[in-house]
Amino acid sequence: MISKKLQDAINEQINAEMWSSNLYLSMSVFFAKEGFNGFASWMKHQSHEEMGHAYSMMDYMIKRGGTPVVGMINVVPTGWGSPLEVFESAYKHEVHISELIDKLVDVAAAERDKASQDFLWGFVREQVEEEATIKDIVDKLRIAGTTGIFYIDAQLGQRK
Ligand SMILES: [Fe+2]
Ligand SMILES: [Fe+2]
Repeated sequence: MISKKLQDAINEQINAEMWSSNLYLSMSVFFAKEGFNGFASWMKHQSHEEMGHAYSMMDYMIKRGGTPVVGMINVVPTGWGSPLEVFESAYKHEVHISELIDKLVDVAAAERDKASQDFLWGFVREQVEEEATIKDIVDKLRIAGTTGIFYIDAQLGQRK
């Protein structure tokens, strides 16, 4: 059985994951409108992935006798200037999410809940990959000229 304190903390994270999903969906729409169909498709995949994180946390809470909350999601940003700016915002957001997950592990540790610590460490590791993937895209966009941006767009469009 999961403690009330940890349930509340995980529910906050579930909300943050759903917010992330909407953020990336908003970025996907922005890219689609700008004609960057590869980036739009990549961001839609990312949006799905974030919803997947929320689902997985909800499933875990149920298994441990907790009650996941499907709460209200705050509004997400809608306008950016360039593909580089979008991916820079995405990178900043992932760094922020990594901090939230770290704090969540601290709550699980303070509650002496080993199973939850183990479950949450999976997200700590996943954040390393997410940060690295998006940082790589930011680095490439920084050095790319106009032609280069369309090449990266085509490449990211291949994400399955
Ligand atoms: Fe996530
Ligand atoms: Fe993420």
